[in-house]
Amino acid sequence: MTAGTRYAIVGSGNIGTALAGLFARAGIEVSIANTRGPESIGGLGAGVRAVGLEEALESDVIFMAIPFGAVEQFGKVLPDWAGKTVVDTTNAHYAPNSAEILRGRLSTRYAAEKLPGAELVKAFNQLPANTLASEFDPALGRRVIFIATDSPEAGDRIAELVGDLGMAAVQLGRIDEGGRLIQAPNALVLRNLIERPLF
Ligand SMILES: NC(=O)c1ccc[n+]([C@@H]2O[C@H](COP(=O)([O-])OP(=O)(O)OC[C@H]3O[C@@H](n4cnc5c(N)ncnc54)[C@H](OP(=O)(O)O)[C@@H]3O)[C@@H](O)[C@H]2O)c1
Repeated sequence: MTAGTRYAIVGSGNIGTALAGLFARAGIEVSIANTRGPESIGGLGAGVRAVGLEEALESDVIFMAIPFGAVEQFGKVLPDWAGKTVVDTTNAHYAPNSAEILRGRLSTRYAAEKLPGAELVKAFNQLPANTLASEFDPALGRRVIFIATDSPEAGDRIAELVGDLGMAAVQLGRIDEGGRLIQAPNALVLRNLIERPLF
């Protein structure tokens, strides 16, 4: 983990809660916010701090764990997302009207348009929240998390974080290349893969 990196999760539903649990288990501090305010969030574990949305947005790495339909509105909360790495956990495929909204664009490309300046990393969208949240015996291997981004540096940072969270990162390259494979319902979505040592 890069020393001093501030992490935040926006969204305290299924995926936000699963992510918070991963951070808590790994002993990495994270803040978490939603639309209703910090008093509506509680008990997510040591090191998980419920904050207002404004404070969450001060973080360096922001997990966007909100419905796909909320992405456009969320993008407007900052005029300029430069300097932010945003991890896109959304799956447009399951959202109403997504085909009309996307008009052929990949969902993370759409998110990048709505969050101008942000480094978008698609990750943590491929597994059901309860699978992501469930503990896995490290003696059996590490759960695979796929990553796609147009920023190799951001990809490396999130891959390192994935390792610190006790999982195995597999970088798939650009959003319009490997990233396509983790856009629901494509080939690598809903695949609970485990990496084992080579020997
Ligand atoms: N559920 C899964 O198994 C799963 C798996 C993989 C990926 N995903 C994707 O992950 C995303 C989240 O899914 P979920 O099941 O966690 O949804 P969810 O349980 O409905 O939670 C959504 C959260 O987003 C917050 N939110 C909505 N609009 C917001 C905004 N403009 N600003 C800040 N917070 C906002 C909500 O705030 P309030 O609490 O205040 O309403 C809520 O906490 C979706 O895009 C989904 O496709 C889900």
